[in-house]
Amino acid sequence: MSSTFLSLTKTRRTHYGLSKVSTVPDAKLQSIVEEAVMHTPSPFNMQAGRVVLLTGKFSDDLWENIVKPGYLKTLGGNEGAIKLYTQKIAEYAAGYGTILFFEDQAVVNDMSAKILSLGKEFPVWSENSTGMLQFTAWTALALEGIGASLQHYGAYSEEVSANVLKEFNLPLTWKSTAMMPFGVPTGEPGTASRPKTFNPIEERVKVYFD
Ligand SMILES: Cc1cc2nc3c(=O)[nH]c(=O)nc-3n(C[C@H](O)[C@H](O)[C@H](O)COP(=O)(O)O)c2cc1C
Repeated sequence: MSSTFLSLTKTRRTHYGLSKVSTVPDAKLQSIVEEAVMHTPSPFNMQAGRVVLLTGKFSDDLWENIVKPGYLKTLGGNEGAIKLYTQKIAEYAAGYGTILFFEDQAVVNDMSAKILSLGKEFPVWSENSTGMLQFTAWTALALEGIGASLQHYGAYSEEVSANVLKEFNLPLTWKSTAMMPFGVPTGEPGTASRPKTFNPIEERVKVYFD
């Protein structure tokens, strides 16, 4: 069983080339996201993870009208960077939808105040949990034949982050942790110029068998 799980996790890769096609109905996308949110562990089961699922025009609007203008402004007129990120953002907008990931800081702060001895740990643990949630959703999409990548434009630009909350009527305590554009892939994962490599496993894993 564990080898089945591990081989399934290998199907999750970063896909930049996306199409406006989903292999599953929207209701299935919703249930994938809901199951991932419910069953991803969180510190003290505090459940600070939040997700917004966008498809179609809502996803297009995110990339074209919120991320693009907000992020390009941060590039200080650097023409090369503007061209590069305009292209990248167009790739994300070409997908079928986007999953927005957040942590509700009201929950994190509440836990930090309740358990003072661990107060400073909760923000870090919450980030660990959000990473697990992202991995779960990303892998579940991959198993349906849907490609995705992990982006952070909410963290790079306060304007993007604020406009996302405004546009989708979200509480101000929701902190953006990632944006995951997705859709049926148009090509191979990763980038041709930078194939995925693996560092020597013995440098990363030590074992002491008795
Ligand atoms: C925490 C985290 C942050 C990442 N941030 C980005 C990002 O900002 N932009 C991006 O294109 N990929 C991002 N990635 C994807 C990694 O570059 C990618 O997972 C890695 O190169 C391995 O490739 P794979 O996803 O195909 O296995 C991120 C991945 C993780 C786990």
